[in-house]
Amino acid sequence: AGGPLVDTFGRVHRDLRISLTDRCSLRCTYCMPEQGNEWLARAGILTTDEIVRVARVAAAAGITTFRLTGGEPLLRPDIVDVVRRLAGIEAAGAPVQIAMTTNGIRLPEMLPDLAAAGLHRLNISIDTLDRERFHALTRRDRLDDVLAGIAAAAQSGLRPLKLNAVAMRGVNEDELADLVRFAVAHGAQMRFIEQMPLDAGHTWDRSAMVTRTEILAALGRHWQLTPVPGRGGAPAERFLLDGGPDSVGVIASVTAPFCGDCDRLRLTADGQLRNCLFSATEYNLLPVLRGGAVTSGDDADVERMLRACVHGKLPGHAIDDPSFLQPPRGMNAIGG
Ligand code: GTP
Ligand code: 5AD
Ligand code: SF4
Repeated sequence: AGGPLVDTFGRVHRDLRISLTDRCSLRCTYCMPEQGNEWLARAGILTTDEIVRVARVAAAAGITTFRLTGGEPLLRPDIVDVVRRLAGIEAAGAPVQIAMTTNGIRLPEMLPDLAAAGLHRLNISIDTLDRERFHALTRRDRLDDVLAGIAAAAQSGLRPLKLNAVAMRGVNEDELADLVRFAVAHGAQMRFIEQMPLDAGHTWDRSAMVTRTEILAALGRHWQLTPVPGRGGAPAERFLLDGGPDSVGVIASVTAPFCGDCDRLRLTADGQLRNCLFSATEYNLLPVLRGGAVTSGDDADVERMLRACVHGKLPGHAIDDPSFLQPPRGMNAIGG
């Protein structure tokens, strides 16, 4: 074993995002095409035993937070078991943190079991509070289900609770202040996200992206914004609203990238390790986990693959580079 997961630029990796499925109950335009994708083949989806094995090796190498994503993680039939088993892992003698990013739709019925299983934190996506807009954006008429999920999360003890909205020109840019008030009323932190070129339809367009500068200008008309220092490796810059205690976050991955502080690795539902949302290279764990020619089936092989993935990490994404190529997978298959 060889200490923490440090890349060639000195970044220490502490956060593993685990995509549990590429399927989703919504079809957000910035993520998936209308007809859905060609889903990942079931035989290639990691079993819960395999996920737990990778997670255990990652925790031994210094990963302290597991974030469960999708697609929609709550569509995984054994999600409560996944949470319970991951929550049982220790990192340097302390229990790991288990977080989840969800569309909220199955939360009302599942949250008590998830919390009992050891889930610590939730981020829920809500791009608009208007039913027709929601339907157009997600291609599903399910705003009420999402609102019920957020209400359930607000009632639970899980904090901090974060709400995510991708800010989009002509779609929800006039709703930013309403979304902030909605979040505050639920004891949650609203976060606005610059849209990234990760949609499966490859239709991303810089001019449709509402930038950090525009987001801050819009919010600045309603609140005095005070930057909160000590961001660490977090994607969101936080600002106190009128001096606090409530705050709002901005995730400016495109115009103000935080790659220099990135502490994340990703594991896709089909067993590929990725060192970046935008990486062109994936590190295939399936042969290592399932035997075959490559391996002795030893945890040391899993660790070697983790270290190889970290070692191959580039300094940052190259969205602004003329040679930038969008990754072939959509957001739903990468894990957000
Ligand atoms: P916290 O740990 O609670 O701060 O979660 P998070 O903001 O990292 O996770 P979440 O799943 O809520 O993602 C919010 C937005 O940040 C999404 O648009 C993600 O794609 C984006 N995001 C998360 N991690 C990264 C990252 O490493 N790089 C980039 N560029 N974007 C990221
Ligand atoms: N750009 C930015 N954020 C995105 N998300 C999904 N697709 C994109 C994109 N193209 C967000 C979702 C969710 C989080 C996991 O990622 O809204 O909140
Ligand atoms: Fe990390 Fe890649 Fe995101 Fe930059 S774009 S913060 S390197 S995952």
